[in-house]
Amino acid sequence: MALSLDLSGHLVILTGASGELGRVMARTLAKAGADVALHYHANVAKARELEAELKDLGVRAGVFQADVGSLGSILAMKDAVNATLGEPDIVVANAVSQIFPWETVLNEAIADYEDQFRTCVVQNVALAKAFVPAMQKKKWGRYIGINTEVTMQLAVTQSAYAAGKRGMDGVLKVLAQEVGPDQITVNEVAPGWTVSDKYRAGEKVDDAGYIANIPLRRRGTDQEVANVVAFLASDLASYITGAYVPVCGGNVMPRV
Ligand SMILES: NC(=O)c1ccc[n+]([C@@H]2O[C@H](COP(=O)([O-])OP(=O)(O)OC[C@H]3O[C@@H](n4cnc5c(N)ncnc54)[C@H](OP(=O)(O)O)[C@@H]3O)[C@@H](O)[C@H]2O)c1
Repeated sequence: MALSLDLSGHLVILTGASGELGRVMARTLAKAGADVALHYHANVAKARELEAELKDLGVRAGVFQADVGSLGSILAMKDAVNATLGEPDIVVANAVSQIFPWETVLNEAIADYEDQFRTCVVQNVALAKAFVPAMQKKKWGRYIGINTEVTMQLAVTQSAYAAGKRGMDGVLKVLAQEVGPDQITVNEVAPGWTVSDKYRAGEKVDDAGYIANIPLRRRGTDQEVANVVAFLASDLASYITGAYVPVCGGNVMPRV
């Protein structure tokens, strides 16, 4: 029998499902058989479109609004998910608020650091408080945080984003140790600058310099990121926890 990646019987709560990378994660997890609770912030139209797509694939899906920087909002979303789809046993913490343009430390507003703290650190603390207790009862769970290569690059103008994502990493490394005894794995997927719908639709970017420094000499795709999320969610990854997995063609390489 061929090796298979089967998520049937599992329910995922996926934050930022309406975003560029989230929508491909949603489709990929559904194609692996998972039911998916699709979180959005403002883009209800994209979330509804995805919901219909996922139902056509034969899985259960629903859309749920929340501000991921607010514990109260995440707890209200948990109640809504539980009431309609059940208790998730896979969390994918993917949402982020994008600050643009990035500025130097001397120019970046304090509000930007606070914004990144809320949507990176507070999001993960709140999702853990909301959804991990049900996994502990089940003695099985997967928590996957979407980080970034920026966390290792720490280049000029990346300070607010990196601070949020480094804080997120701190929370999740500790969580991995605290919930490991309940057979819950906690891992992070760290994309590079990824090709997604907006680029395919013609958004102009100058990526030649970026690509020249990547060992694989190309940018990765949304699908390549989603594949790693599905792997970490599956039983194939049952003995991996506390990992930071770069999906960036070798642009950053954690050394051992
Ligand atoms: N794209 C890349 O090249 C890249 C590279 C490295 C890492 N990443 C990471 O990958 C993840 C997804 O990135 P992306 O490029 O797909 O981002 P995106 O297209 O900007 O999508 C962001 C998502 O987060 C949601 N969101 C924004 N602010 C929110 C808030 N306050 N509360 C709740 N949800 C909020 C958005 O919801 P609405 O659209 O519904 O408002 C959207 O679904 C992020 O964690 C990012 O750091 C991306």
